[in-house]
Amino acid sequence: MSDSAPSLSALASPLDPIGFETQLGPLPSSGKWPPELRGTLVRNGPNPYIEVPGSHWFLGDGMLHAFSIDNGVVHYRNRWIRTQRLVAQQATGQPRATSLSVSAGDDGTANTNVIGHAGHMLALEEAHLPIDIDVDSLDTIGPIDFNSGLNGAFTAHPKTDPHTGELIFFGFGTPEQLSAGMSYGVISAQGKVTRFERFEAPYASMVHDFMVTKDYVMFPVMPLTASQERAKNGLPPYAWEPEFGTRVGIMPRTGSTRDIEWWEGPPSYVFHPMNAWQDPNHPNLLHADVMEFDVPPLFPLPDGSPSPDANPVAHLVRWTFNTADTRRRFTRIRIDPVPGEFPRIDERFSGLPYRHGWYASHVVTSDGRLQSYNGLRHVDHATEERSDFTFNPDDRVSEPVFVPRAADAREGDGWLLAVVWRATENRSDLVVFNALDLAHGPVCSAALPHRVPAGFHGNWFPAIERKNVAQTGG
Ligand SMILES: [Fe+2]
Repeated sequence: MSDSAPSLSALASPLDPIGFETQLGPLPSSGKWPPELRGTLVRNGPNPYIEVPGSHWFLGDGMLHAFSIDNGVVHYRNRWIRTQRLVAQQATGQPRATSLSVSAGDDGTANTNVIGHAGHMLALEEAHLPIDIDVDSLDTIGPIDFNSGLNGAFTAHPKTDPHTGELIFFGFGTPEQLSAGMSYGVISAQGKVTRFERFEAPYASMVHDFMVTKDYVMFPVMPLTASQERAKNGLPPYAWEPEFGTRVGIMPRTGSTRDIEWWEGPPSYVFHPMNAWQDPNHPNLLHADVMEFDVPPLFPLPDGSPSPDANPVAHLVRWTFNTADTRRRFTRIRIDPVPGEFPRIDERFSGLPYRHGWYASHVVTSDGRLQSYNGLRHVDHATEERSDFTFNPDDRVSEPVFVPRAADAREGDGWLLAVVWRATENRSDLVVFNALDLAHGPVCSAALPHRVPAGFHGNWFPAIERKNVAQTGG
């Protein structure tokens, strides 16, 4: 797939990397900054140290961007993550040959997410261990196994249990790349690996994210298949093969991976669920709200030809599993007509019945064009009301991150933070919304003189207790 993926140079400028590290501040800002908003928004994304023509966007070296906020004063810092791959490039001045199919035998790119757990800031990418980062300086400490001997793939989307503080994770294509091998594990709130198991998926695929409820873990295996055989023959290691259908493994958290039951559904692809939960009114029902593509973007067919939909978009879809259904087939209902990606919630409700969700939306212009990531959308599942904010034409907004007003604030009471690329100025702003009133527009913002390249995920690290209680998710 590395041969047929869009190259960085072919993509729009918000994806282009920046070639420097800096620290700036106080940033010029506007609006009324909430005094309670104290902490740091840290975002991660690919930013190739040396660009390789034709290289897949997913393979760029991870760069962190941190916006620290204290009493309305905003400082910014960005740092490449010093992976072995990056250090080698710095030493030689040469790009490190990488592809989605062959392990470079190093500690990866660390380019996908950044979370807090057990006093650590962890930069994550799904094929390698987390990289430990110094919270204040963003300096790289190095790969971390939590003194457990843990190795192999570690998802970029572990989930924090809001009650126990445990970090629940999985791996795919592990220990052998492009295999059906998967792993499941738990790291306690104190940073001790308390569970680690390996199991086989029904088939080898890319499993980007998963779902965890109070009592269950759900592994979505979807037909963006992986193939060692294809890779050996110069064909795409990952490809769209809808005939495999979707399989979702459901495991009781009190059980083991031997207890996984595989459910069946029609082919589609999900990079990111919004949330999953057990229905409080119907004990047999498990629900998952997911951003579902009919066909995944950025990946070809097995022979390397482009997939049939050149520019697919995802919609918010509710999956429902009835544990009384012996056929193990789940239902799907689209619950929002507006496409988008990067769904987030108030993480205090991760895995629990919830009311509020947000995502970066695609906006249809008056002349009928679909502007990707041009808006933010709030979904109120209780009232079914929606609220939107649309940025200026061609501006592109990042994944939004929710920050509660206080630890005990009601669900959704707080702010939504995002980084928006200002197309006409080719630079970025940090924007802060009242999370329950997006239509009002940003309540405050801070301006960077340069662009934050379009990235993947970020999280909020509260100022006071950030070394212990950094929020995770996404
Ligand atoms: Fe992701």
